[in-house]
Amino acid sequence: MNDRAMFKASWGALDRNGPQQWRVTASQELAYEVRQVEGLFEPGNKVLLNCSEGGQLAARQVVVIDQRVDALYGQAIRAYYDHHRVTAHILTLPVSEETKDLDTALQIVRHLETAGVLRRSDPIVAIGGGVLLDLVGFAAGMYRRGVPYIKVPTNGMAMWDAAIGIKTAVNTLGRRNRLGSYHAPSIALLDRSFLKTVDRRDLSNGMGELLKLAVIKDARLFDLLERHSAMLLGSRFQDPVVAPEVIEHAVHGMLEELAPNLWERTLERSVDFGHSFGPLIEMKALPELLHGEAVALDVLFSCWLARERGMLEDREVQRVIHVMRSMALPLRHRFFEQPALLMEALEDTMRHRDGQQRLPLPRGIGHCTFVNDVSLADLTVAARRMADV
Ligand SMILES: NC(=O)c1ccc[n+]([C@@H]2O[C@H](COP(=O)([O-])OP(=O)(O)OC[C@H]3O[C@@H](n4cnc5c(N)ncnc54)[C@H](O)[C@@H]3O)[C@@H](O)[C@H]2O)c1
Ligand SMILES: [Zn+2]
Repeated sequence: MNDRAMFKASWGALDRNGPQQWRVTASQELAYEVRQVEGLFEPGNKVLLNCSEGGQLAARQVVVIDQRVDALYGQAIRAYYDHHRVTAHILTLPVSEETKDLDTALQIVRHLETAGVLRRSDPIVAIGGGVLLDLVGFAAGMYRRGVPYIKVPTNGMAMWDAAIGIKTAVNTLGRRNRLGSYHAPSIALLDRSFLKTVDRRDLSNGMGELLKLAVIKDARLFDLLERHSAMLLGSRFQDPVVAPEVIEHAVHGMLEELAPNLWERTLERSVDFGHSFGPLIEMKALPELLHGEAVALDVLFSCWLARERGMLEDREVQRVIHVMRSMALPLRHRFFEQPALLMEALEDTMRHRDGQQRLPLPRGIGHCTFVNDVSLADLTVAARRMADV
């Protein structure tokens, strides 16, 4: 990507009599692709080897893979590289939120150094869930001020969320994602056959993000989820018709929101729906609640707020509850029944939204409005509704 960057720079003394100063402006083109693929590691498939920046087939590839995914797919992946006579330098990492840190990122950097990554033509291949993708993206962005990488997401959270945007991160100072960067991949290759081995709870967790997108911006996706969530979860997204369509809607919806706002300059983001109360609560509830579970509870809580404002009908909130049930997501958590804590969570979120609530709420399923005037009394009513489910 760096190769194709376009720079426009101008500089010069602005005023002969004033202090000398120069101003540089530059812009860089950013381009990456997201593609649904089938059988990524089947011997006949060359998509992964065709992703070099120079366009020629890779002769070697540096790979970083989630340990669990390696145990399940490592043999097939190694056989794939052998079949194509491509040397693969594979680093296998045990990943978790606890090890999503600078030490692990440095471990990846050491691997890049020993494997001898060629700066431009050798994208690093990251294969795993959200943690692995964030870690490799972060390391790739730092190493020699940025080398290309390919995202191969292997669970739901990664496939329709972490793989789609350009954010990378590690946890530090006791805070999640405190260090990070914007470093776009060359390509994200989504092969849903990986989902067949994902634990039910992990997949259900990922589906929390689908629910978020559906309620706030995609009535058709909501309709699909309403009819098929139980089947999708049960079949681990292996059915050939509905699963690709659901993933297509999710990726398209994410890109529609992310693409015009890749660097998050606009703070009113509908994809922040479900991420207003959850972040603080999720941290307090660790390890009880997974991220997508907290998102889903936040979605439901926000739906009750919308219901009290007449923006959603009771019947629509019941539909949301029904979908959550069929996704095997939790419907209750004691923290979502505590108004003071919910207010604290909202205030914490406001610090990331320039001091305003900018709270995305659904106005009918599939449409979004932002509000700034949610009071403790509103939170109290919604918290009571949560307790009544
Ligand atoms: N950068 C972004 O835009 C972005 C977006 C969403 C989430 N994230 C980050 O992602 C992380 C959460 O991601 P996660 O939920 O994927 O966690 P995770 O990466 O820990 O994966 C969850 C579990 O799934 C396992 N797994 C992955 N693929 C599998 C497969 N095919 N079969 C069986 N098991 C498999 C992993 O080994 C792990 O045990 C958080 O750190 C979050 O900050 C980043
Ligand atoms: Zn999320």
